[in-house]
Amino acid sequence: MATVMRYHMSLDLTSFQRSFQLPDKLKIQPLEPDDIDALARMEIEAYRDTLDFSLRPELQSFDNCKSFLLKMFAGKIGKGYFLKNLSFKILSNSNLCEAIYTFRDGDTAYIADFLISPNCRGQGLGKLLLAYSLHRYKVAGYRRAALAVTATNEVAIRLYKKIGFKIEKSFPIQLSGGTRR
Ligand SMILES: CC(C)(COP(=O)(O)OP(=O)(O)OC[C@H]1O[C@@H](n2cnc3c(N)ncnc32)[C@H](O)[C@@H]1OP(=O)(O)O)[C@@H](O)C(=O)NCCC(=O)NCCS
Repeated sequence: MATVMRYHMSLDLTSFQRSFQLPDKLKIQPLEPDDIDALARMEIEAYRDTLDFSLRPELQSFDNCKSFLLKMFAGKIGKGYFLKNLSFKILSNSNLCEAIYTFRDGDTAYIADFLISPNCRGQGLGKLLLAYSLHRYKVAGYRRAALAVTATNEVAIRLYKKIGFKIEKSFPIQLSGGTRR
């Protein structure tokens, strides 16, 4: 069975300072249970051509993904507690473009997922939602932000490093399906 490396990354929120400007046509709002269908579609689209697609069984079908998200909103999944009010979406002209899911793990805001619809990439929206979310975690009193990322996901890792995340450690994970990126 193939093994894939993942990185644990973290950022010290006590020294995090970043300004961001939201263009007029964009809205950032907390995630709602009503978003689940659109989120499930975006999850599958966003990861389809990546190694993560094979790592995460919930991505294998819309129904699996939807039931995973329903459990997440019900607080039955993940590390720590799902923080609905610190999990955000970006809407562009009322269409869902991007989402970030946040869990509480002590004084750490743990980013369980961060994804952008393929149609909305490369316009700085990833950086914008990440900076906004980190600012909101800090205002809410969290001292650290953390996440795990697949080591081959260079675009995401570059973005995380640019905003101030550091690699803490790497760990292997077993890949059960076929290999992609
Ligand atoms: C990783 C991801 C969130 C980045 O989103 P994005 O909106 O394209 O990011 P941005 O437009 O803010 O770009 C951030 C940086 O990455 C660069 N970038 C974006 N797409 C790129 C690509 N395909 N190739 C190379 N660089 C790219 C941008 O140029 C920018 O760099 P800069 O700051 O030097 O200008 C998005 O690709 C995604 O959703 N991927 C699938 C899900 C995923 O892997 N999530 C992370 C899980 S841990």
